[in-house]
Amino acid sequence: MPVISFANSKGGSGKTTSALLLASALAETRPTTIIDADPRHPITTWAEKTGRPETLSVVTNTSEKTILDEIEEAAGRDPFVIIDLEGTASRLMSYAISQSDLVIVPLKEQQQDAQAALDVIQEIHRDMKALRRRIPYSVLFTQSRAAVKSRTARHISAQFRNNDQIDTFDTEIHERDAFAAMFSMGGTVAGMDPKQVNGIDKALANIEAFRAEVVAKLRAIRNGETGRAA
Ligand SMILES: Nc1ncnc2c1ncn2[C@@H]1O[C@H](COP(=O)(O)OP(=O)(O)OP(=O)(O)O)[C@@H](O)[C@H]1O
Ligand SMILES: [Mg+2]
Repeated sequence: MPVISFANSKGGSGKTTSALLLASALAETRPTTIIDADPRHPITTWAEKTGRPETLSVVTNTSEKTILDEIEEAAGRDPFVIIDLEGTASRLMSYAISQSDLVIVPLKEQQQDAQAALDVIQEIHRDMKALRRRIPYSVLFTQSRAAVKSRTARHISAQFRNNDQIDTFDTEIHERDAFAAMFSMGGTVAGMDPKQVNGIDKALANIEAFRAEVVAKLRAIRNGETGRAA
């Protein structure tokens, strides 16, 4: 039942990639729906290739008018619902956020992405005020280097990690060929051929750490254990 949205109005921050990584990992344990609300429909295109797990359903959203019904229907059917949102702030984004148990704000360690993430966080706070309910959210660093970080990357992640008002994932989604290859080849990282794609083991470990942290956050949220302002 938990609904998890990926939101950041900055294009290319890693929403679609991280949403598909999480959805494919969750689908290994329980039936999962991913709602493709990115107007370019990259997840729908991905699902048309071979290799989509049977336990992962894809719903293609085409209008803000239908998103609430699509979320309701998917949440009534599957244990996990993931929503991949478009790269601009919109009414559709607010609708999805209003129905979310957790909003994940992916962000590349670059200044423009950091600013956009702060804008999304402000938007979430406005939605919370309008709805008079707390909407847990957490920042996820994406496309980060697995090895040594640049000075800018360190500075940006420290801005968020040292802010005790903003929850952040300990896990970062690293920049990996396997993550981009999902979209060109279809299927999941687990189904890739190690002869064709490098670093599959590390990519799978990264996905599993992310999945486990999301599940732990959802459990803490359900038990009312999160101490953040989020
Ligand atoms: N962890 C990663 N490793 C390698 N490539 C990545 C990773 N995350 C994203 N990319 C690549 O960066 C580009 C943008 O990523 P993605 O489409 O996930 O961002 P987005 O936030 O959904 O963008 P948009 O706002 O346009 O919908 C894509 O080409 C994707 O393949
Ligand atoms: Mg996208």
